[in-house]
Amino acid sequence: MVDPRDRLIVALDVESLAQAEALLDRLHGVVSTFKVGTQLFTAAGPAAVELIQKRGGRVFLDLKYHDIPHAVAGAVREATRLRVAMLTLHASGGSAMLQAAATAAKMAAHEFNGPKPLCLAVTVLTSLDRGALHRELNVPLSVEAQVLDLARLAKAAGSDGSVASPQEIRALRMGLGREWVIVTPGVRPAGSAADDQARVATPEAALKAGANYLVVGRPITGAPDPQKAARVILEAMATA
Ligand code: C5P
Repeated sequence: MVDPRDRLIVALDVESLAQAEALLDRLHGVVSTFKVGTQLFTAAGPAAVELIQKRGGRVFLDLKYHDIPHAVAGAVREATRLRVAMLTLHASGGSAMLQAAATAAKMAAHEFNGPKPLCLAVTVLTSLDRGALHRELNVPLSVEAQVLDLARLAKAAGSDGSVASPQEIRALRMGLGREWVIVTPGVRPAGSAADDQARVATPEAALKAGANYLVVGRPITGAPDPQKAARVILEAMATA
């Protein structure tokens, strides 16, 4: 069995290095992987990644790249140079962009003699529903069908996995196979506030459905005792 500690990712959605550092202090020894997203990276840049790594943590760099293949390949090369463990990109950037990212990750890992980050595709943002897909993006499919289509595109183009809401895990696991890495946000321990997450699941349910990693932000970072909140989630994960 995989240690739950290797499957929990805490989202450091804070505005400064000082706030990130305070959380890292409180979670030291309990959580080993941290997500740096657009807020913290925009505020603090690569120093946020280095701060986590200096304390022995692994980094999930969630910047959701979406640009022409050359630009995305360049960004993936720099993320690989920073030795992040995982990164995200939009599957809707298309197969040329996804392929360029996968190739850049491999080549840069070799060039900088470091690990190849997992390239994770974002499919349909959970803020989009079927109506928005249809009206605004001219996509006639259900959200689930579009999620599966984009994940298949990403897989064929060399991505390693995708970010998926709890509701999508089962279909992705069935459709994309055992090796596909599934990273799931929107996880809430039983009895806690959903915040603005529309589709939530408990940690144990998300793992049972087939997720490899869970991303948890506010239930841990906003708790009066973040370390205790993380331990409660890890205990729930251990029952899956
Ligand atoms: O605070 P909370 O647990 O809701 O944080 C969830 C994290 O997962 C945030 O950093 C957010 O960017 C990310 N995320 C999400 N929903 C998605 C994709 C990513 O909440 N569909």
